Amino acid sequence: MNSKTVLDSEVTITELMIPSYANFGGKVHGGILLALMDKVAYVCASKYSGSYCVTVAVEGVEFLTPVEVGELVSLKASVNYVGKTTMIVGIRVEALHPQSGLVKHTNSCYFTMAAKDDNGLLKEVPELVLQNELQLRRFCEGKAIRRLSLQKREYLKGNLKDVNRQEQMAMTMGERVVVSLS
Ligand SMILES: CC(C)(COP(=O)(O)OP(=O)(O)OC[C@H]1O[C@@H](n2cnc3c(N)ncnc32)[C@H](O)[C@@H]1OP(=O)(O)O)[C@@H](O)C(=O)NCCC(=O)NCCS
Repeated sequence: MNSKTVLDSEVTITELMIPSYANFGGKVHGGILLALMDKVAYVCASKYSGSYCVTVAVEGVEFLTPVEVGELVSLKASVNYVGKTTMIVGIRVEALHPQSGLVKHTNSCYFTMAAKDDNGLLKEVPELVLQNELQLRRFCEGKAIRRLSLQKREYLKGNLKDVNRQEQMAMTMGERVVVSLS
């Protein structure tokens, strides 16, 4: 079984936020940032696994601080956790205002990426070598994220479809909703 370090996986991409990336409010579209996250996650996972990779799941994307046109966005990615055929790529997104030099941490998120072979089948990824406390902490966080991600998948597949009318009505209690079924 081959192994690789977290450092082997590290990659950063940087892109200038141009006016065509803006939404109607003049800030950068969330979709532009999502596409950049997906790109960096792909490069990071492919570099680490030496394979073609696909996105399986996304956790923790929140747009709490707007990104402005004219800012330079950097996305730093590394493999935080590995399973058998998948990797959790942690991404830190920062926006630099070039004139003031001010750097905003806009978001941290986690992309689960699967490695595929030439026939499109899932492929085993290298073992991860953890070399410092930060990497160990991130690995443990990754393990928790994996557990939550799988639980969410099971919940959405099963529980929500089995909710009966009485339970549905109970769930609307205290909510800002009017139930007017025809
Ligand atoms: C994701 C995919 C590989 C899962 O296939 P599957 O046969 O249901 O998978 P399994 O249950 O055998 O799990 C395979 C791996 O995926 C992981 N996985 C599956 N669902 C997951 C989820 N919701 N969140 C995180 N990991 C997940 C499993 O933990 C397992 O990881 P491991 O091998 O590292 O232990 C498959 O659905 C797929 O190829 N999807 C298409 C992905 C794609 O094309 N994305 C591009 C964007 S459209």
